[in-house]
Amino acid sequence: MPDNPGQNSKEERFVYSHFIDGIMSGKFLTLSPTEIKQIAMKNHFGFVSLTPLNEREEQLLLVLVVKKLNDRLNHENLEGLCGQVFYDGETFYINGGEKDWKNWSRRKEAPYPLSPKQKVELLFNPNIWHKKRLVMPRFGNGLTRYGNRDLLGSDAYFGDEKGFRGLLEKLRQRTRVTKLVVLDTGCGMGKALQDMKELDPDIETHGITMEPEPAMFNADHFHYIVAERMPLEFEGKFHLIVSNMAFRYFLFQHKALLNVVKALANGGYADLHFSFDRIDSSPESRAYFSEQVPGANSNYEAMKVLVRKVMADLEVLQEAGKINIIPSSNFYRQSMQGGLIIEKVSG
Ligand SMILES: C[S@@+](CC[C@H](N)C(=O)[O-])C[C@H]1O[C@@H](n2cnc3c(N)ncnc32)[C@H](O)[C@@H]1O
Repeated sequence: MPDNPGQNSKEERFVYSHFIDGIMSGKFLTLSPTEIKQIAMKNHFGFVSLTPLNEREEQLLLVLVVKKLNDRLNHENLEGLCGQVFYDGETFYINGGEKDWKNWSRRKEAPYPLSPKQKVELLFNPNIWHKKRLVMPRFGNGLTRYGNRDLLGSDAYFGDEKGFRGLLEKLRQRTRVTKLVVLDTGCGMGKALQDMKELDPDIETHGITMEPEPAMFNADHFHYIVAERMPLEFEGKFHLIVSNMAFRYFLFQHKALLNVVKALANGGYADLHFSFDRIDSSPESRAYFSEQVPGANSNYEAMKVLVRKVMADLEVLQEAGKINIIPSSNFYRQSMQGGLIIEKVSG
């Protein structure tokens, strides 16, 4: 951790500067809808999109981003963490949760109160934010909202180190580039990106996530944007693109897939876990998808049709020798969901 974690964290984690101020002052100030919208407009929409979206699609994405950012940046847990916090090395207790700590913790040490400085040091450390628990009366959970998988292992991005190193080697030979540029789209806190760089420092790592956490693992560049709306500058940039358990949450999976193909460099390789089973189904997006695909009785059913169209376009590119598509064996049987590898041969 840096010597003065509050200061450095504040600069790096600008969207959580209100949380740091709240910890230091003891009083959490909720961000207003206007402030949240300003963050979204600057980060998520303040650039030209690689794949154009129409006004309605932009609006639907904006509503979603503002909602998700509001859930995250104004979460009641953050408010609780700005007040009296006890910690026993395993669990943070807020709102008086420490009073029945024996029910929650197997550890023997009694929880002790944290100073603001200790809180900033602990809460802005990704290893703590990733793993420790938060307890308040009648409620216990992790600090993170989503999982953050390792690069290697059984429930991870790749099965084993040998296979992953072999892939980087193949990409270096194919692209004749030594310092490979890698993107994880829907990267969570960036754990897999940090693992990658530890295995092979000669890569440049980029992570896209719609909602940053107060603590993030190490990546060379985090982009707080949506996968459906990558910047134009991403065109042909990445030698490796990965995505794990993330497409399922996107709003326009078919657009995010197009972005991946466009963002691959020649000789590049994308390894995606592709699905749309958790697609948003708010009344606004429902109205949009029923116009796009009349007769589809859910956004999930509509997405099957939209993805089928994009896959047909990609198959044309494949026939023209521009890309190779390697779907997992069950991909088409599961209505175009499963593993999807795309290799870019030429632009
Ligand atoms: C379940 S987490 C997966 C994290 C990590 N890939 C893993 O396998 O553990 C889903 C991630 O997708 C991100 N996400 C959800 N919708 C998104 C969108 N439309 N654009 C970009 N990221 C999005 C979330 O913010 C989160 O980082």
